[in-house]
Amino acid sequence: MLESAIHQGITHVLCTPHANDRSNSHANELFQLRFKELKDKIAKLELPIEIGLGSEIMFGMNIQDVLQYPFATLNGTGKYFLIEFPRQTPFEIILNVVKAAKRWKVIPVIAHHERYPLACRSEQQLIQLRTEGAILSIDAGSLVGQFGGAIQKVSREIVATGHIEIMMSDAHDDEKQNFRLAEGRAAAAELIGAPRARETVVDAPRRVWNGEPWPKFEMVKK
Ligand SMILES: [Fe+2]
Repeated sequence: MLESAIHQGITHVLCTPHANDRSNSHANELFQLRFKELKDKIAKLELPIEIGLGSEIMFGMNIQDVLQYPFATLNGTGKYFLIEFPRQTPFEIILNVVKAAKRWKVIPVIAHHERYPLACRSEQQLIQLRTEGAILSIDAGSLVGQFGGAIQKVSREIVATGHIEIMMSDAHDDEKQNFRLAEGRAAAAELIGAPRARETVVDAPRRVWNGEPWPKFEMVKK
């Protein structure tokens, strides 16, 4: 998988094992152990790529409990966390979680936003989520048709609005679900132009990686 990433020009990979609101110190130990093994292997093979640890946390009622663990925030900075929801989660629930995260002083990056049809109904929904402090992300694979035409269509529509700030690869294996970031970036460039597409795969993810503050979103009236 990392060789494929390197071929695509990827220099940094955040490893985001699945977690949920019951993940605890045992999960933390396991993730840290596996992460170190991978890091050692990369050093041994002298692969030109950097890795960081985070997790992809499935929404649950006790999600605040898990945020204390080092694996819970992206690259362990304590600033950003990656959250996913069951597919048919109502928009209002997603919005409430975003509002709660503001109180907890962590910034939610919503994973593969294109997979939540009830939160992709209008541009207004995307604006509302961003206004409350969410960062909307998309899976590059979705944009290039990895999950079929319907998801690709939604992906193209939400990217075209300009409200998707991060594109990531939801890479799971070295076969069908590998990194698709180079293709995704090219597809995004056709919709929003090359400079903005670059922001979604380079500048915005770098801010998260470094735990830097996120620029405040202000809606410019069209
Ligand atoms: Fe996911």
